Amino acid sequence: MKKTLKIGLFGFGCVGEGLYDILQNNTENTGFEADIVKICVKNKEKKRSIDSSYFTYDKNEILENEEINTIVELISDAEEAYHIVKKALQSGKNVVTANKKMIALHLEELVQIQKEAGTSLLYEAAACGSIPIVRTLAEYYDNELLYSVSGIFNGSSNYILSKIANENLTYDVALKQAQDLGFAEADPTLDVAGFDPTYKLCLLAAQAYGIFVNPDEVLRIGINNLKKEDIDFAKNYIRQDNKSQKTTNFKVKLVATISRIGNVEENKLLLYVLPTFISHENPLYNVENENNAVLVEAAFSDKQTFIGKGAGGHPTGSAVLSDISALRYDYQYEYRKTERNKTKKSSFSPTRKALAEVYLRFDESLMENKLRENISFEEIIIRGKNYIIVKISLSELFENRDFIEENKIFVAISGEVKAFNKESQEKENVTSTIY
Ligand code: HSE
Repeated sequence: MKKTLKIGLFGFGCVGEGLYDILQNNTENTGFEADIVKICVKNKEKKRSIDSSYFTYDKNEILENEEINTIVELISDAEEAYHIVKKALQSGKNVVTANKKMIALHLEELVQIQKEAGTSLLYEAAACGSIPIVRTLAEYYDNELLYSVSGIFNGSSNYILSKIANENLTYDVALKQAQDLGFAEADPTLDVAGFDPTYKLCLLAAQAYGIFVNPDEVLRIGINNLKKEDIDFAKNYIRQDNKSQKTTNFKVKLVATISRIGNVEENKLLLYVLPTFISHENPLYNVENENNAVLVEAAFSDKQTFIGKGAGGHPTGSAVLSDISALRYDYQYEYRKTERNKTKKSSFSPTRKALAEVYLRFDESLMENKLRENISFEEIIIRGKNYIIVKISLSELFENRDFIEENKIFVAISGEVKAFNKESQEKENVTSTIY
């Protein structure tokens, strides 16, 4: 039965205002009604575009209001968001949130609270803006074996990469534009250093494979050390595969990946966020600006690509709207894959055991020797004046992420990523990724 929604909204920034706007216009078009009762904001000084009677600065005015049955949480402070969401769920209110950091850090506990309280926590807007990927993984791909879920999960980084490559803007100007357009997080390091797509990867891992992954355990390298010369290098790089086929004209994209790897019975999942050289054959090649894309590879449906705006008030607001609408029917994510994992002989678990072809560009002052003293490579493929292309294990990159950051080394996957263990690679049903 359809329920009347009385909403308490937290946050009135880019997405909050976008949602308010959508709700005003959508009512006229579709007859869908949801009533925003109160909006809680932090900043008392900021001029607001709507009547001041909507606003409160006290969260309890919403959380303790019995008329309000639905909380929409759109603030950037993940810790504060966690307390709001937890209290709301425990007191019988359903929640819609776009806070990927909060979800990635607390999902396991929040799922338990949802179960105990019989309430619902939805977060379509937390992953890839307007792309309906959370519900797709949870419901549509309920039973089909997924080989991989990967793609461009951060609009700001993609915007910056596009603007440098296509319009010759500097990194700083492009970042400023991403901030002005409301794409970037309040702290843009979360975008460019790859935290934001890592959080999204973790919440998609829960829906795709039923596992809760600690974001700190995911190999994460962003585009913050990128220079224009890396984009030019990728463009001119000629990669030769085993059959002597040559590929060139790559673009650099920040790619997040969850991929099954190794022997199928082991149920190992490789998770990482890394800049990657993308060939023109890859659907990610033409995904530009704030657009995001999710590639899903499954046993029977084969390859699918979802593309759409990954940031911005209206696109993200549209995903919030869809969740609000689903709450009229008390829709919940059921985490059936998590339950199935518990009963399986071998449940899915993360690994970093994989061998990747990687480009590392460093300041000449660092010198290759210092790099080699700190990081072990399996093989050096190409050696340049201030870069090398190597085969390296992803565990080794993970162990050396502080050294990489301190020395401002730009890292990108430039070729194949495959199971480290040669033996399991030769067995059937092994997945590997090539961009
Ligand atoms: N800062 C995020 C991005 C917003 O750029 O993708 C959407 O999650």
